[in-house]
Amino acid sequence: MQLKLTLVAVAAAFVAAGTASAQDVQVVKIASVAPMSGGQAHYGKDNANGVVLAIEDLNKQNIVIGGKKIKWEAVLEDDAADPKQGTAVAQKLCDMKVNGVVAPLNSGVAIPSSKVYHECGIPMVTGAATNPDITKPGYAEIFRIIANDSSLGSGLAKYAHDTLKLKTVAVIDDRTAYGQGLADIFAKTAESLGMKVVDRQFTNDKATDFMAILTAIKGKKPDGIFYGGMDPQAGPMLRQMDQLGMSNVKFFGGDGICTLKLAELSANAKSLANVACAEGGASLQKMPGGLEWKKRYDERFPGEFQVYSPYKYDATMLLADAMKRADSVDPKVFVPKLIESNYKGVTSTIQFEPNHEIKNPSITISVYKDGKKTPLD
Ligand code: ALA
Repeated sequence: MQLKLTLVAVAAAFVAAGTASAQDVQVVKIASVAPMSGGQAHYGKDNANGVVLAIEDLNKQNIVIGGKKIKWEAVLEDDAADPKQGTAVAQKLCDMKVNGVVAPLNSGVAIPSSKVYHECGIPMVTGAATNPDITKPGYAEIFRIIANDSSLGSGLAKYAHDTLKLKTVAVIDDRTAYGQGLADIFAKTAESLGMKVVDRQFTNDKATDFMAILTAIKGKKPDGIFYGGMDPQAGPMLRQMDQLGMSNVKFFGGDGICTLKLAELSANAKSLANVACAEGGASLQKMPGGLEWKKRYDERFPGEFQVYSPYKYDATMLLADAMKRADSVDPKVFVPKLIESNYKGVTSTIQFEPNHEIKNPSITISVYKDGKKTPLD
């Protein structure tokens, strides 16, 4: 009898141990939200890849938080670059109780969805959406780890004026929160520097025919055209500038056009040689861990690199870092730690200003040499 009881006790202890170790693993979900379908899917894929690479690296580190081994999971969502779809996805992620969100790509999605994340208390760290208004409401959960459009728009205007010595520019935007906001900042800075904005035209983020607006602009003979928008529009626009004999006109844009894919989308237009684009942060060459990281990215996701994945990687790692410092994966506990971040990332050492913008934002201007995006510094 005694022996039987002992055996039962030993068996029970084994069961208990098995159960305990199962309970000791905690799943932490980090979501990427970006366009995975439609004309901007190439950016979205690159965004998601950055998060996936970080999650894979975190899972190799056997991280224990709050006494539990963490199993990191990426949740990849598609917002189709659409504000309505983006806010619906945000609500879904709130209902799923994910631990953090690395998102979105587009400012037009980020502005309304940041309110949803704020209301459900889930942190949203963006390394791509650049409209300054995203951090204006002062939500505790919302952070940006890349320079915003104030830096990009004014940096490009200064480059046009100081380096290229342009006197007149025309401005086009796609009427999104990003395109319009960036174009406004560019135009305002250009005028304050003494350049003349000779025309202002609009399109939308689905358009592919720009012949009418380019013809109107051609009549005003500007030295340069600034485009506030993304590469699915900038590519065909460059091609159509060639067709209209405008391939001697300089062409500017922000991070949204500063992709490797721009060359392909322009069908290697002659006008590509006149493009100058600005993106937030340092070039890969100048990032603390840029080139080594890019090599790993290319091995894992050949041919998919665009612009933002190093920031998406760092944003994921930044959330994990705050969880580690708080010893908790509960957003209520770790979100207050984000503002104290001093995280040595691939892109830079990430620290925040009190308004949740990154400290010491920098920008990089690139041109396209022989069809290849080439940073100027
Ligand atoms: N920087 C771009 C935006 O904010 C992608 O929409």
